[in-house]
Amino acid sequence: MLQGKCVLLGVTGGIAAYKATELLRLLVKAGADVHVVMTRSAQEFVTPLTFQTLSGHPVHTELFSLVQEQEIGHISLADRADLILVAPATANLIGKVAVGLADDLLTTTIMATKAPVLFAPAMNTNMWENPIYQENQAKLERYGYHFILPVSGALACGWEGQGKLPDPQAIFDFALPLMGSDELAGKTVLVTAGPTREEIDPVRFLSNYSSGKMGYAIARAASRRGAHVVLVSGPVNLEPPANVELIQVVSAAEMYAAVMAQADQANVIIKAAAVADYRPVERSACKTKKSACQKLTIELELNPDILAELGKQKGDRFLVGFAAETHDLNKYASQKLQQKNLDMIVANDVTQEGAGFNGDTNVVRLLFAEGSTEELPRMSKDAVAAVLLDRIIARLAAI
Ligand code: CTP
Repeated sequence: MLQGKCVLLGVTGGIAAYKATELLRLLVKAGADVHVVMTRSAQEFVTPLTFQTLSGHPVHTELFSLVQEQEIGHISLADRADLILVAPATANLIGKVAVGLADDLLTTTIMATKAPVLFAPAMNTNMWENPIYQENQAKLERYGYHFILPVSGALACGWEGQGKLPDPQAIFDFALPLMGSDELAGKTVLVTAGPTREEIDPVRFLSNYSSGKMGYAIARAASRRGAHVVLVSGPVNLEPPANVELIQVVSAAEMYAAVMAQADQANVIIKAAAVADYRPVERSACKTKKSACQKLTIELELNPDILAELGKQKGDRFLVGFAAETHDLNKYASQKLQQKNLDMIVANDVTQEGAGFNGDTNVVRLLFAEGSTEELPRMSKDAVAAVLLDRIIARLAAI
């Protein structure tokens, strides 16, 4: 994903500095060539050796180090980087950049670069709320510097509030589009994910085992490639990907309304959600009490088929459905492809090992409207998402 990209990871002196090691690992895993610059106070929290081992390069610490200057030098670092990512970024570092100070290797490199710069500030809540800090950040934003905002929670200093460094994965997701994968730039991708819940009464519902992981992986992958992503999600236990417009729904009827309201602006629609086909005819306003009867019948009625409806008004949108089956995979998947007027369907046999709802991997077969099929091996859901987008992009280019 980041093959051929050079990232300069700046680490400043905050307790969250240890989280930068995980961020570094994610960047390296994605194929980036990562060079680390640490400020003097960052080295009080984590040793350069840790970053050196994980990045495979010597860590840069000194502005006027003869050895380091000879090897790469701050101007060369500033020129080579596709992105400068500072995580964690202290109030001090941001303050210095905001007033144009360049008194160490990191601030000098930031001043000297034309690459995009992303700051991930992390600090005590009162520092974060301090109008001086806020003014510095606003000034840098006006100049085109990027910020991923800290999240709320219990801080190391004992305070509770905004100031925590976001998860490394969230920072990674935020950083990716800044490195210019833009195959889907200007396109809107609408993704649905997760199960729906059909309420029986205030404490019970009908649903299915969908975790939402496949749909979330697709939304993340599309956003990384520069798309504007709208993610319509049923109830799931997942962190929403950075940079996507999340619309949370509960029932199939709500999902239908949300999708139909968004469909017009979408160039690609990917319906990974496991929509409940039926809902109770009546929802009881009070909890249904147990009775002496041995049997209870709940009458169900059909939900709207969102995908079939989209297929009827397809226009030039690229429409992708999913087919989760337990038997006769090809037969049912190709029926759905035709009947719902899709361009592509992602079929999986949920009884197969490594496939299906809750795991992190999937085993899928792709069927295309023109009649071809493609069998994919067992892969992580992120990798499946990447292949789906490759196929969609190739077909969009051919339209
Ligand atoms: N789908 C939908 N709205 C529904 C039911 C399904 O949009 N009410 C979509 C799903 O998001 C998926 C595709 O249709 O992309 C196939 O869903 P699936 O449940 O496998 O198929 P059904 O058409 O419901 O058929 P069956 O349950 O008989 O397999």
